[in-house]
Amino acid sequence: MSGKPQVHRVGVRDVKFGQRVKMVEPCNLYECEIADDCFIGPFTEIQAGVVIGARTRVQSHAFICELVSIGEDCFIGHGVMFINDTFSTGGPARGRRELWRATTIGDRVSIGSNATIMPVSIVDDVVIGAGSVVTKDIAWPGVYAGNPARLFKRKN
Ligand SMILES: CC(C)(COP(=O)(O)OP(=O)(O)OC[C@H]1O[C@@H](n2cnc3c(N)ncnc32)[C@H](O)[C@@H]1OP(=O)(O)O)[C@@H](O)C(=O)NCCC(=O)NCCS
Repeated sequence: MSGKPQVHRVGVRDVKFGQRVKMVEPCNLYECEIADDCFIGPFTEIQAGVVIGARTRVQSHAFICELVSIGEDCFIGHGVMFINDTFSTGGPARGRRELWRATTIGDRVSIGSNATIMPVSIVDDVVIGAGSVVTKDIAWPGVYAGNPARLFKRKN
C-alpha cells in the first residue's frame, strides 16, 4: 500500500470563550461556546454548537458532541462520552443529521468518570456515578448510577 491519508490537525478553531477560561492542550475544540471561568482538560473534543455554562469543568479525555448543552457549575469527569447518534436505523446516521438527537444538562450536574450519556435531558443538581450509562431523561435531583443508570439517592 502506498496511499497518503488526508490529515486534519487537532486544534482550537472558531470558539467563543468567556473570561478566564483555562484549557490544557492538546484538545480539539471548534465552533462551540465556553463561558467564563471554565476549565477544559487535555485530550478533549468539543464539537460545533456545544454550549458550556460558566464555571463548568471538563476533565481530560471527555467527548462532547454536537447538540449537547451543559449548564453552569457542572463537572464532566474524565472520559465522559456524549452520544447524539443512537443508530436508530440500525447503524450510524452517516451524515443524516436529522437522525441526531440533543442532550441538555442542567446546572450543578456532576458526571463521574467514563460515564456515557445517551441523548437525554438532565435537571439541575444531579450526580451521575462513574461508568454509568444514562439512557433516559432524569427529571429529579439526586444520585444516579449503573447501566442503565437508576436513581440511587434522592436529593434532600
Ligand atoms: C455513585 C457515587 C456518587 C456513589 O457514592 P456513594 O453514595 O458514596 O456510594 P457508596 O460508595 O457508598 O456505594 C454504595 C453502593 O453503590 C455501588 N456503587 C457505587 N458507585 C457506583 C457506580 N458508579 N456504579 C454502580 N454502582 C456503584 C457500590 O458498589 C455500593 O453497592 P453495595 O451497596 O451493593 O455495596 C460514587 O460511587 C461515584 O461513582 N462517584 C463518581 C466519582 C468520579 O467519577 N469522580 C471523578 C473525578 S476523579
